[in-house]
Amino acid sequence: MGSIFALVSPGGSPGVTTAALALALSWPHHVIVAECDPGGGSVLAGTLGGYVPAGFALVEHAIEAGRNPAAAAADLATQLVPLDADKIRLVLPGLTDPRQAVGLAPAWPAVAATFAAQNCDVIADCGRLDAGQGQPLAVLAAASMVAVVLRPTLRQAWAARPRIEMLRQLLGSTRQVALLVTGPGRYPAKEMTSALGVPVIAVLPDDASSAAVLSDGEQRRRFASGDLMTAARRAGPMLRRHAASQVSARTGPQAPADETPVPVGVAPAIPPSARDAAGFGANR
Ligand SMILES: Nc1ncnc2c1ncn2[C@@H]1O[C@H](COP(=O)(O)OP(=O)(O)OP(=O)(O)O)[C@@H](O)[C@H]1O
Ligand SMILES: [Mg+2]
Repeated sequence: MGSIFALVSPGGSPGVTTAALALALSWPHHVIVAECDPGGGSVLAGTLGGYVPAGFALVEHAIEAGRNPAAAAADLATQLVPLDADKIRLVLPGLTDPRQAVGLAPAWPAVAATFAAQNCDVIADCGRLDAGQGQPLAVLAAASMVAVVLRPTLRQAWAARPRIEMLRQLLGSTRQVALLVTGPGRYPAKEMTSALGVPVIAVLPDDASSAAVLSDGEQRRRFASGDLMTAARRAGPMLRRHAASQVSARTGPQAPADETPVPVGVAPAIPPSARDAAGFGANR
């Protein structure tokens, strides 16, 4: 069985989606990026440059998960959009309109159960953690670890504090919670840890040009060897170790996951012609 890695932000668009994609593209085995952000998904218009999939996304999956959970869990991996040519990293596109989030609220437990039933890890981009309706709380609760993605600034740490308290109430403790620091800022990781009471699990550097490849589908040569992806390759094992230590603390030692390395994904597998046919990305 795989694990769920949930990523949330304290707001301010620090780079949750970018971090989810950077981690997925350097993950050592099959992985699904699930766009669970109640504010809407951005991978199709961003990384994939306007590619429109054949109609299967979070809403359709949620309906199927409510109707027939076993079939939804079994079919999920076959329905997803590949992020790399080898189809090792797949994405479940998110909502296209934030107004869908309220209607989706009752479905999150069923959706979380289908993620937990996958044979591969799931990186869930849960967007900004807020107090409103439609938050994917069931996904957070099912996660082996919840990473609060934030910029190294006092403003972000300030915004993260109540969110960490919300996670403590939801999960019963902050054992599964860690900070994933990303992008520009000067607030030291050590101070962040002591201010927020949870560890910094990894740091992704300020690398705007690599980030734009992931967030906006920009082209960049030597993206895979850039600072962001180099750090993401180091961050993934730290997240997995943290998750495994939490699982074994609850249930005893687990069999090691299949760690057969696979190459870092660089380019989306979506052919440019598909993007052009969809009428997007002409001005890329
Ligand atoms: N490590 C980084 N260094 C520099 N820029 C970054 C980094 N990570 C992300 N960015 C940039 O920050 C912006 C926001 O990134 P992203 O869309 O991933 O944030 P988000 O937290 O998912 O936002 P939202 O809550 O709106 O979904 C993008 O322009 C992206 O290229
Ligand atoms: Mg996002």
